Amino acid sequence: MVKIQIINGPNLNLLGLREPEVYGGRSFDDYLEELRAAYPDVQIDYFQSNHEGDLIDCIHRVGFECDGIVLNAGAYTHTSIALHDALRAVPAPAIEVHISNVHAREEFRHRSLIAAACRGVICGFGLDSYRLAVSALVECKV
Ligand code: DQA
Repeated sequence: MVKIQIINGPNLNLLGLREPEVYGGRSFDDYLEELRAAYPDVQIDYFQSNHEGDLIDCIHRVGFECDGIVLNAGAYTHTSIALHDALRAVPAPAIEVHISNVHAREEFRHRSLIAAACRGVICGFGLDSYRLAVSALVECKV
């Protein structure tokens, strides 16, 4: 069975409550149920943390045994060389995702320090960004 790990970074535990005009009104747990139902043959595991080191530990833990990582690193996207290095340290391909179109927002969100360590980047499609990333990993065999 194909195994995909979704990793959400800081503040994404508040999806549904946090700035709904930017991130929508739906909780991630609710969305995840729908995503898993759409891919019954794929094992989709989920981890969220507000702490950079926990995200790195998760990448180390899963990165040698899963088929792909879908990573929304939240604000750490724009700051974390350590996450970049963690992604480069493991063989699993990663897709960077964002719910919002970071390029249409503040300038400090335009730069990603992790994109170069990822297979691709998907942003701006709301929660559907995650489905597109899973689809890229599963169907395109990236
Ligand atoms: C985000 C965009 C980031 O700039 C921001 O810090 C987030 C969420 C997104 O999914 O749109 O926390 O990654």
